[in-house]
Amino acid sequence: LSEENQSVLAAYEWLTKLYHHLLRFTKDGKEGYNYFKQRGISEETADIFQLGFAPNDNDFTAEFLKKKGFHQQLLVKAGLVSLQEDNKVTDRFRGRIIFPIRNHLGKTIAFGGRTISNGEPKYLNSSESELFQKGKLLYNFDLAKKHIRKSSEAVLFEGYMDVISAYQAGVKNAIATLGTSLTTNQAKLLKRYVDTVIICYDGDDAGIEATYKASSILKETGCHVKIARLSDGMDPDDYINAHGDIAFQNDVIKASETYISFYMRYIKRSYNLNLEDDRFKYIAAILKELAMIDSSIEREYYLKEISNEHNITIETLKQEMHTHRKEVE
Ligand code: UTP
Ligand code: MN
Ligand code: MN
Ligand code: MN
Ligand code: MN
Repeated sequence: LSEENQSVLAAYEWLTKLYHHLLRFTKDGKEGYNYFKQRGISEETADIFQLGFAPNDNDFTAEFLKKKGFHQQLLVKAGLVSLQEDNKVTDRFRGRIIFPIRNHLGKTIAFGGRTISNGEPKYLNSSESELFQKGKLLYNFDLAKKHIRKSSEAVLFEGYMDVISAYQAGVKNAIATLGTSLTTNQAKLLKRYVDTVIICYDGDDAGIEATYKASSILKETGCHVKIARLSDGMDPDDYINAHGDIAFQNDVIKASETYISFYMRYIKRSYNLNLEDDRFKYIAAILKELAMIDSSIEREYYLKEISNEHNITIETLKQEMHTHRKEVE
């Protein structure tokens, strides 16, 4: 690590402690404290994730770090302040709750900051730097790693709050991307530790679309994929708050569906099954996907389902599927 990057880490370490202290113990952080409390985050969880609050002030952070001996230029480089025309700096995080983003060794290398007053953008991250590259990092991987290893499974979420709520609800193999879609790089990292990735994205259209994309990347990388379903429009954090920890563990995570079940529902949306032509295309698409499944029992199970639903003999379906199966074998 360069000397400069060591200083960046040191600046983040100071700030992580400061923001967390403000949140937990001071009047200046009370707004942040109340915000998390109202969202059901316990003090213990706030401590584990080092959640914090950055006061609504233009130069609180810059001044604090300058007093600690950090140069202005370094703070810009660290993505913590921005340079104005008059060569003064403005804090990047003002009046936001703070989610320290830790690298896989547990060192804070960036912050995510959420508005608590409907400001825009809702979430703001430190700008990317040599140390912080979103596409190479998974949020909470350092804490989740031992749980991921133990179960050979990871649960992939969209957001910081989903990970934190899930962790608090006892689902500790919880990770997330950082506001971007899953990259091959991240999938490869996971593959080293897991057999299966359970995708638990938001239950809205964007979440369903992102689930399909992430599945494709994970499967290409050789991970098995399962999908945890959430009812209409909810996200995992909403669900936990509405239905509780046990329901989340049992009815969402343990009840996650196979990729093929998800896929059948997913592509149904692109076809009008009242049209014969569409129906054939739909069946062809599913058979192609079914051909990729290794277990013949599983293949048979879904063939039967299609056979019943569309009144086509299982033999015919099998024949068609095997034309694709040859490509796999
Ligand atoms: P969501 O909009 O689903 O937010 O974005 P959320 O995680 O449910 O947040 P809450 O519950 O409203 O607090 C999912 C993720 O996308 C990124 C963040 O990482 C967020 O957790 N995001 C979202 C951004 O980077 N910027 C934004 O403005 C919004
Ligand atoms: Mn000031
Ligand atoms: Mn979302
Ligand atoms: Mn969400
Ligand atoms: Mn949410």
